[in-house]
Parts: sequence; C-alpha cells; structure tokens
Amino acid sequence: MRTVPDFPKPGISYKDITPLIEDGDALHAATDALHGATKHLEYDRILSAEARGFVFGTALAYRARKGLILARKPNKLPRETISASYDLEYGTDILEAHADSVSEGARVLVADDLLATGGTARAMCDLVESAGGTVAGVAFLIELGYLDGRSRLKPYEVVSLITYATPND
Ligand code: PRP
Ligand code: MG
Repeated sequence: MRTVPDFPKPGISYKDITPLIEDGDALHAATDALHGATKHLEYDRILSAEARGFVFGTALAYRARKGLILARKPNKLPRETISASYDLEYGTDILEAHADSVSEGARVLVADDLLATGGTARAMCDLVESAGGTVAGVAFLIELGYLDGRSRLKPYEVVSLITYATPND
C-alpha cells in the first residue's frame, strides 16, 4: 500500500490500497487474513460500504460463504431504503441499504477497507440496529490508530489487520 500526502485535500494522508488489490497474491493473503481474524464471530451476512469496502466485503463474503449487503451512497438502490448519516474524515455523507436486507435478529458483520474517524462504520452499525439486527463485529484491513475511530464503535468487537500509529507511517 502507498501513503499519498495531501489527498484528497491538504492535511489528509490517503492510504492507497490499489497496489495491494492489483497483486493477486496480496489480495488473496489479505482476504484469508480477514477471514481468519473474523471467523470466531457468528454472523449471517456482511455489510460493506461503497466503494472501497465492496472490494474486501465481497472477497470476505466469498471466502466465508456469506451474503453481502450493500451500503450505498444516496439514491442508488431501487427499493425502499433505510439510511444513516455520518461525518467522514473529509465531509459528510449518507449511506443507504435496502430496508429488507437486514431481518429482525440478523447478525451482521460490518466490513470496510479502512477505519479512520469511524463515521462510516458507525453509520453501518446504525443501519443494522435500526433494522432490528445485531452487529456481530466490525472488521477492517487498515486502522488509522491515531484517529481513534475505534472509540466510536463501542461496544462492538473491532478487528483490524494493519494499524498505522501515525499519519506518516
Ligand atoms: C473511506 C474508506 C472508509 C472511510 C473511512 O471511504 O473507504 O469507508 O473512508 O473513514 P471514516 O472512518 O472516517 O468514516 P470514502 O468515503 O473515502 O469513499 P470510497 O470508499 O468510495 O473511496
Ligand atoms: Mg469507503
């Protein structure tokens, strides 16, 4: 992976995952590692956010033989939706999921590529709970530990494979 300084705006250290996902062995190893780190969790489906979250959400869903629920930016899903708003590391946005994707009592693993401030993952957890489901855990490939997004995800179990302690690691 590469760190790109000042993208998409000054002061943001962007973690570019494209080198990892372009390398077949690295993508395979990352998927297996995510699966290994989450297989103790009991869940029925995975919920991931567009766009980068779909990469690892799909790979993990395939590996674990679970279904994948799509959390999308507004007005992309065709049927009735539920929504949650969130503050991003840069900006504010809304995520939507189909209202019937999470059934009452369903156990959902929230998965994304990266944990920064925790806003995106928190919104996905809110989506699950607003539909009557339970969050089985929250999993990331990368955690920006210096932003302490993990504290916004209490009381859920948070799993991450790679933690950056400072922006310039
Ligand atoms: C990035 C990343 C996570 C989120 C983490 O997504 O893929 O989803 O930011 O930030 P947070 O913990 O502060 O919420 P982004 O919204 O940039 O969009 P993308 O996945 O479509 O590239
Ligand atoms: Mg994202």
